[in-house]
Amino acid sequence: MKWLCSVGVAVSLALQPALAADPSGDRPLTPEARDAFVADLLTKMTVDEKIGQLRLISVGPDNPKEAIRDMIKEGQVGAIFNTVTRQDIRAMQDQVMQLSRLKIPLFFAYDVVHGQRTVFPISLGLASSFNLDAVKTVGRVSAYEAADDGLNMTWAPMVDVSRDARWGRISEGFGEDTFLTSQMGKTMVESMQGKSPADRYSVMTSVKHFAAYGAVEGGKEYNTVDMSAQRLFNDYMPPYKEALDAGSGGVMMALNSLNGAPAASDSWLLKDLLRGDWGFKGITISDHGAIKELIKHGTAADPEDAVRVAIKAGVDMSMADEYYSKYLPGLIKSGKVTMAELDDAARHVLNVKYDMGLFNDPYSHLGAKESDPQDTNAESRLHRDEARKVARESLVLLKNRLETLPLKKSGTIAVVGPLADSKRDIMGSWSAAGVADQSVTLLTGIKNAVGDNAKIVYAKGANVTDDKGIVDFLNQYEPAVVVDKRTPQAMIDEAVAAAKNADVVVAAVGEAQGMAHEASSRTDLILPQSQRDLIAALKATGKPLVLVLMNGRPLALVKEDQQADALLETWYAGTEGGNAIADVLFGDYNPSGKLPISFPRSVGQIPVYYSHLNTGRPYNPEKPNKYTSRYFDEANGPLYPFGFGLSYTTFTVSDVKLSSPTMKRDGKVTASVDVTNTGKRAGETVVQMYLQDVTASVSRPVKQLRGFDKVMLKPGETQTVSFPIDVEALKFWNQRMKYDAEPGTFNVFIGLDSARVKQGEFELQ
Ligand code: BGC
Repeated sequence: MKWLCSVGVAVSLALQPALAADPSGDRPLTPEARDAFVADLLTKMTVDEKIGQLRLISVGPDNPKEAIRDMIKEGQVGAIFNTVTRQDIRAMQDQVMQLSRLKIPLFFAYDVVHGQRTVFPISLGLASSFNLDAVKTVGRVSAYEAADDGLNMTWAPMVDVSRDARWGRISEGFGEDTFLTSQMGKTMVESMQGKSPADRYSVMTSVKHFAAYGAVEGGKEYNTVDMSAQRLFNDYMPPYKEALDAGSGGVMMALNSLNGAPAASDSWLLKDLLRGDWGFKGITISDHGAIKELIKHGTAADPEDAVRVAIKAGVDMSMADEYYSKYLPGLIKSGKVTMAELDDAARHVLNVKYDMGLFNDPYSHLGAKESDPQDTNAESRLHRDEARKVARESLVLLKNRLETLPLKKSGTIAVVGPLADSKRDIMGSWSAAGVADQSVTLLTGIKNAVGDNAKIVYAKGANVTDDKGIVDFLNQYEPAVVVDKRTPQAMIDEAVAAAKNADVVVAAVGEAQGMAHEASSRTDLILPQSQRDLIAALKATGKPLVLVLMNGRPLALVKEDQQADALLETWYAGTEGGNAIADVLFGDYNPSGKLPISFPRSVGQIPVYYSHLNTGRPYNPEKPNKYTSRYFDEANGPLYPFGFGLSYTTFTVSDVKLSSPTMKRDGKVTASVDVTNTGKRAGETVVQMYLQDVTASVSRPVKQLRGFDKVMLKPGETQTVSFPIDVEALKFWNQRMKYDAEPGTFNVFIGLDSARVKQGEFELQ
């Protein structure tokens, strides 16, 4: 399966049941019918009812269900999030339909980012699959399960490009690359929305966080973003644009300011660009409390001013603050906000409700009451097979000395590490309605794989961290990290004893999921000391050491790379994580994942990313020179480059062949290579095509991913992999903010990671 810059993605609707988009109502789901219906509805609404539509309320301790029900019947709520069962959702919709004046249905939303009940790998893991079919599976299953729970919208996909591993939310996105993120985000939108978000098993997406949240200064959460227009439009904007062009009905604002303007008060971003240049017709939603936060940002003087600024900037719906409800009535009265402005915002909300099919059937995602599941968390509601298949593809083999892996299903295996048997951590952050108890840990996965054929000895070996401050931070809101009360030495001793009696040691190390989440930025990227001590002790036993990494960001692993015989990056692999990891450890699945992000050697290298500019003094490791762009105390490149990942077999890539040395503006060239499986096992690999504009009016990246193709080859098999290139793949925003391709020489690089590539070139005329 090949994915290219200019190739559209057909969505597989394998999971799409054959239900019509318009189950019981008779309103056609066309923009014309919608506009007429909504225009008419607006004429019937009071100012308060219009304002009510703009309120998006989170059910929780501050807003218990009972209090919300009263507000609902008064028409003071437009949508609800954080309610995830059919019973609860039905009760709220009943309130509207039975007691409110105009019976405008609510919509229900949730953070379905990597699964709803079945938890798939975190997005960084999914990106490692370099497989858009895997994305489609995640999208379809997640939408299916979310819609089956009564939901209409998801706060996903998260397409914030990020090159700063200190930022905890890097785990939620698809990595450092613009093209890969665009492809993944767009495919997620298409697969979650299906033919129509009104379908029984589709949900509307809300792309987030607009814009450039992934570039917060210093990787510090909620921090400022300031960047050139060129970088913004060349590197950070395309994923949002592609996901919106794919038809996403919603977009969520970022919390950060961009070049001084917080998103919720940025009319250039929300009006000129989003609605003007990009022609977006859906709904804009502020992130949690973002309107309130305008005061602290310093772009609004007081609460009333924050509301005035936000609605004028183009924020339709206000998430989790009561400001719109409180202050809009007065602002309308005083004329500071016009009826037209209020109508615009209300219209956008009503439009998406219409598109969700809610005016045809407010219960379209609920069905009949009798059909509600007796047990919301029933096993039968999960999609374990799909989860296991996707999870296997998300695993990246970083090192495999002397073929330590795959392991034999015999002898004694010591399974150690603070994450080896953690049901919660393996799900990762934003695990939606996933139930930790239903997830398969590494220990269980290994036991399942070997059955009675091998002896498994388990020892925790260390706590995730011995730093009490960090444990308190992680356990601030809930008991997320269970601390073993034994001394660190006692735990290590137990693990070492287990290792000494084993043929091989498998150690699961990394981060508790709360370390790679919202509001979890780090200043360091090494493993916590407790785990480093454990690894050192295990290494000293002389037993083969396999490190299974569980983490939500690239870590600095120079030391572990030296210590381990094999290293497998597993991110947070989800409900079926343990089984999927065992599939790889024992060779039942040949690993095919590739890194969607560069792994730095140390935090000081950040940002380290493959698509950098060359500078006037590039560093050449073969001819080191003091006055070149480098750090004098560390090797220059990343420890593992973007696109890197090993297999249990080996592949070779031939020289690059080009169909023509020149390309006309309206023409095409095709670059191809022959890829051969030179090893003894069948396996998949990701062939990656990068382009470089060698000389242009501005400096261009040394290479940029422009196509990838995941191919399966039997031992000895060769396949020709071709990438057609057209002018669209060569365009960029120049100094005058003109988007175009400039004539001249282009390098084409093709390889199995971003660092080791074969090179060809052609001339754009
Ligand atoms: C996050 C969003 C999320 C929202 C609702 C916010 O804190 O930034 O990504 O969608 O909460 O849960």
